[in-house]
Amino acid sequence: MTGTSIRVWVDGALVDPLGPAVSALDHAVTVGDGVFETAKIVDGAPFALTRHHRRLEQSAAGLGLPAPDLAFVDKGVAAVLEGDPIAFGRLRYSVTGGVGPLGSDRHEASLTTIVVAAPQARPPASGRLTVVPWTRNERSAVVGLKTTSYAENVVALARAKQVGAIEAVFANTRGELCECTGSNVFVVAGGVVLTPPADSGLLPGITRGLVIEWGRAAGIEVREQPLPLHALTTSDEVFITSSTKDVLPIDAVDDHDLPAERPVTTRLQEIFRSNAERDSDP
Ligand SMILES: Cc1ncc(COP(=O)(O)O)c(C=O)c1O
Repeated sequence: MTGTSIRVWVDGALVDPLGPAVSALDHAVTVGDGVFETAKIVDGAPFALTRHHRRLEQSAAGLGLPAPDLAFVDKGVAAVLEGDPIAFGRLRYSVTGGVGPLGSDRHEASLTTIVVAAPQARPPASGRLTVVPWTRNERSAVVGLKTTSYAENVVALARAKQVGAIEAVFANTRGELCECTGSNVFVVAGGVVLTPPADSGLLPGITRGLVIEWGRAAGIEVREQPLPLHALTTSDEVFITSSTKDVLPIDAVDDHDLPAERPVTTRLQEIFRSNAERDSDP
């Protein structure tokens, strides 16, 4: 992926993807004061944009930012998706606190709106997980918000890549299974699909929500409940979900290999694929 295949729109205009476009004093640059969304692009169109917009609003409200102007965001989305359709990629849009003080205090926020579209490789068919020693804080001031403060995820994902894993798994401060750096986690035990609940400290993924809804609608039992970390190695199947990975089966968690047979995960992949094909904004 080169800079030139990325399309970037900032505050009303398409800009040079590699050129300066945001103030050095922007509060997202200085302290990570901003919110964002990542949606999948398939054949030039975003998937589940309405759900991503709702979550952006919730993240902004949780951070104490003014409500984002979603009609303005939509203009940016249209601008970056115009032209040659991106066959598969990522739509990333951010609303930041705008130019602000160099510290954590805020002036009256003047939001900065950034929309980016970029092609990317399709996800692999499956992958490995590694458990990292750091925690998700279920009592954090920003729990459940998709903020631009992602440094913890950067460190954890780098660790995962070092050991050949596709994702890093965090427990929360209670030692319960929580989520990955950019994905939610599910296990399957005795045919029942289990995933940590919203109050475990996770980001409520759009894909997680759709898997729960669509799985239940197809007659699969799906429960949100606290899970011990060792559920990753004592369950029959493990999969992760995210906007660009959809439902991704897990082969191993650290040195524990999981069974190659994963009928429930395969069924959920099929359910997700057929529902998503039928409705690109569920
Ligand atoms: C911390 C975190 N958890 C979970 C997810 C998965 O969410 P979604 O399905 O909305 O992509 C993401 C998405 O990037 C994330 O950043």
